[in-house]
Amino acid sequence: MSERVTVRPAAPEDVDAIVAIAASSALASHWERVRYEGMVSPLSGAAVQHSLLVAAVAGRLVGFAAARGLVTVSPAEVELENLAVLQVAQGGGVGGALLEAVLHWSAAMGAGPVRLEVRTANARALRLYRRYGFIQTGLRRGYYAAPPDDALCMERLLQ
Ligand SMILES: CC(C)(COP(=O)(O)OP(=O)(O)OC[C@H]1O[C@@H](n2cnc3c(N)ncnc32)[C@H](O)[C@@H]1OP(=O)(O)O)[C@@H](O)C(=O)NCCC(=O)NCCS
Repeated sequence: MSERVTVRPAAPEDVDAIVAIAASSALASHWERVRYEGMVSPLSGAAVQHSLLVAAVAGRLVGFAAARGLVTVSPAEVELENLAVLQVAQGGGVGGALLEAVLHWSAAMGAGPVRLEVRTANARALRLYRRYGFIQTGLRRGYYAAPPDDALCMERLLQ
């Protein structure tokens, strides 16, 4: 893909597209739409801050990332909870742009660790995370179902 990727915080009218992008990927987490709706209207001052980001190419939403940050600890701790790109748009830097934006958001809130879990069989996501400096910190056996898989726990320290 040669067209420019833009990443921005999701708006309420993006939720339909986000649900559709998640549904299109067997490897993404599938959440109820109400969960996304809660993330686009975050409460200021809450102990857990959410970031729901969308990526667009030529005006079309093609990917999203969801992260949460626990800000009552110092440094704050972030978890990347969901990340998906439409299959037609994969391999063009959209996933990388979303991950970079999550890292920026995390750094802006003074986060220390950014953590995630990923299927051991998800080679493409694993390469992406390693490229952005995530290292394996653990393994959760039998963490995933349908199909069954272990989870690699990964972390990138920002400070
Ligand atoms: C994992 C996922 C988010 C990556 O998204 P993506 O948009 O394909 O990611 P990128 O394009 O940034 O990087 C993927 C590959 O494209 C390559 N690439 C990036 N920009 C490119 C460009 N302009 N031209 C050609 N290739 C490019 C990268 O080098 C990378 O190659 P690699 O996989 O061989 O390492 C996506 O595959 C996806 O949605 N998967 C299903 C859901 C999922 O697994 N989510 C993660 C759950 S933990």
